[in-house]
Amino acid sequence: MGKLLPTPALKRDDSLNVKDNRTGKEYTVQVTHNSIPATFFKGIRAPAGPNDRPEDETERGLRVADKGFLNTAVIESSITYIDGDNGVLRYRYVRVYVTVATHPEAYRRGYPIEQLAARSSFLEVSYLLIYGALPSGSQLSHFTSEVLLHGPIHSDAEGFFRSFRYDAHPMAMLTSAFSYLGSYYGEANPSLQGQDLFTKAAKGDATALQNMDRQIFRMIGKATTLAAMAYRIRQGRDFVVPPTGMSYTESFLYQLDHLSPTDQLSGLQSYKPHPVLAKALDILFILHADHEMNASSTTVLQTGSSLPDPFSAVAAGCASLYGPLHGGANEAVIRMLLSIGSPKNVPAFLEAVKKREKVLSGFGHRVYKTSDPRSFIIRKVADEVFAVTGRDPLLDTAMALHDAALKDEYFVSRKLAPNVDFWSGLIYRAMGFPMDFFPVLFVVPRVVGWVAHWRQMMLSPSGVKIWRPRQVYVGPSTRDYVPLEERKGAAQVGIGMEPSVIEHSGMTKRRKLAEASDKVRSKL
Ligand code: ACO
Repeated sequence: MGKLLPTPALKRDDSLNVKDNRTGKEYTVQVTHNSIPATFFKGIRAPAGPNDRPEDETERGLRVADKGFLNTAVIESSITYIDGDNGVLRYRYVRVYVTVATHPEAYRRGYPIEQLAARSSFLEVSYLLIYGALPSGSQLSHFTSEVLLHGPIHSDAEGFFRSFRYDAHPMAMLTSAFSYLGSYYGEANPSLQGQDLFTKAAKGDATALQNMDRQIFRMIGKATTLAAMAYRIRQGRDFVVPPTGMSYTESFLYQLDHLSPTDQLSGLQSYKPHPVLAKALDILFILHADHEMNASSTTVLQTGSSLPDPFSAVAAGCASLYGPLHGGANEAVIRMLLSIGSPKNVPAFLEAVKKREKVLSGFGHRVYKTSDPRSFIIRKVADEVFAVTGRDPLLDTAMALHDAALKDEYFVSRKLAPNVDFWSGLIYRAMGFPMDFFPVLFVVPRVVGWVAHWRQMMLSPSGVKIWRPRQVYVGPSTRDYVPLEERKGAAQVGIGMEPSVIEHSGMTKRRKLAEASDKVRSKL
């Protein structure tokens, strides 16, 4: 084995000069990994100018405004690397122990997503993301057996799932279920056990590390169980115990679809999900396992930074992922394709998108400015699934939309290309999943990315800092309280400046009519 490569000698001045024209002062800051610390600007102070308000706090240092985190690196990470301009996604971008002379291409490279999708399995990739290297045979079997061992859940959880309304969205159930799961494990709660419960692992505390890994096995192991319970409650089916002797994705499909022992198909001992569908789901899980600082991973870390139990942090990640701009996009794509109806309606739809009357779901990405590399892999998986399940008639509309958008100046000039969600919904639909279950199929594998980021943060040698961003306050300056009787006319004008007037349901009206005084009744 070669030795760790030294960082190449700095031949140039990697620093940045900044001149504050307000004061004429010059400052120099070191550039590291092509980034500068935002706190550097806090040291740049000036006397308040004529246009500054006291709330601008000009004398207290410059602030960095970045609405929506467009160019703010919130963490140092070695989990996933994305080159958005060139459509590259690699897991575990690490220094490797080889010499440059013999393996120049291997220096600081991660594993390309294309290779992992073609040759690896979801749990092997999970190991890679969490622990930083591809496992040996015994490491993989240890990890696999721990994850699968932690699949079953306390039977009380059945009552929890049954407490939801019959038509509850599965994401509402799953989000709550992760939080609920945390209530079982007091030993994983820093509020109960001490705030350094996990962070002391960074100082070499083996028990803390064990505790952390135990929660990780639990969360990955039970992700399929909770997801399947959310599914089965909607189908009106009893719950099943996770099977043994199956892969992670086979076990998930089993838990979703297995019926009673008397069922002709699933009662058979040999009941196994279709291998093409299990393999397709495994590849989809690999593709969805991590995507560096996306909205939900950031949410998990933001939540985790105040040191709650990891189940609460993952529940927060579920809530973030659920939005239609993130993991809800696969569901939104199918709704969009259904609303378009057929290829002939595609031009009119695109015109509406360009007029900003509609959204082209499944296109565009904050980081990728070319096609998402995962979309090519998914497109291939889609054909393999359709060969088994039959072709989805929506595919023609999807292809017409895809081809037309990629030729259209509006999308080309904005570098809008298909993202992973453009095709994934079609596969899930062909596999018979209801639309509102699509985000759940995204959450299950993403739990791995979330826990990998959470673990990396807990193990940070410099400790965990609470993620507490700043704001630019643009509201009113100080003003005096005015007693109610002295306030004149409408207090404020403008959108959202007072509570909305809402329509009450017939039931509320009946109640008010029954109980209200004449004065109230006259307002109904
Ligand atoms: N359809 C039409 N126009 C779009 C789209 C789209 N899907 N996406 C971006 N644009 C336009 C914007 O209107 C904007 O145009 P303008 O400069 O003329 O105002 C320009 O392209 C840049 O877009 P932004 O909104 O600034 O890009 P941002 O990085 O903030 O948003 C996002 C990225 C949220 C993914 C956006 O592209 C989008 O809404 N896409 C559709 C939803 C979607 O597919 N989400 C899944 C993302 S992948 C994932 O989470 C797995």
